[in-house]
Amino acid sequence: MNHDTPAVDIKEKDLNQNTQALEELLSKISDESISSILDIRYGLGGWAEKALETFPGAKLIGYEQDANTAARAVKPKGATVRVKRFEPTKGMKADILLADFNTTTCLKRETLDHALRYVDCDYLVFTDVCCSKLHLNYASYGLAEADLKKYWKRFKVDGYKLIGFARVHHAASSALYIKKAPTG
Ligand SMILES: C[S@@+](CC[C@H](N)C(=O)[O-])C[C@H]1O[C@@H](n2cnc3c(N)ncnc32)[C@H](O)[C@@H]1O
Repeated sequence: MNHDTPAVDIKEKDLNQNTQALEELLSKISDESISSILDIRYGLGGWAEKALETFPGAKLIGYEQDANTAARAVKPKGATVRVKRFEPTKGMKADILLADFNTTTCLKRETLDHALRYVDCDYLVFTDVCCSKLHLNYASYGLAEADLKKYWKRFKVDGYKLIGFARVHHAASSALYIKKAPTG
């Protein structure tokens, strides 16, 4: 699997488990003013479906670069899917940014940082795939043991605070961050 692996080539079981993890995280957002959601890795739409179920009045814009995946994706009410590569541009805004990456880890986080340089969002959810193999690679992340809680606590996102993380079985772990309130 690499950055560009289309969702149609990812095991359904892994996609479903990721979506369950997302559901657990979205339930931690008590903010009733969520109206815009940006899904920059739409895939088959599992995250979009869950997000719109959780925030039924919201509008979601999704980007999916693989036409075959986009054609087979679910498109729930409130979702608009753009069949193209997501290219962040200045001035993009969303209450929630969904980033179901195929390969992001704390050592390889360019796509995450790149998106965040451009998209202004209040909440951020992204998947980190290292966590399914944390028992093998914890030392390279500077951990003394394979502890997912410590892993996410060390994963700093500038301007954001970790609210929680979730993993279902061995599917990649996902985490939810909230923008820090401005100080001073
Ligand atoms: C892990 S899957 C997302 C699965 C999705 N959350 C679901 O529930 O089906 C990632 C998807 O992002 C797409 N993708 C990768 N890079 C992209 C980019 N730069 N812009 C748009 N889509 C991209 C891939 O084609 C793949 O279908």
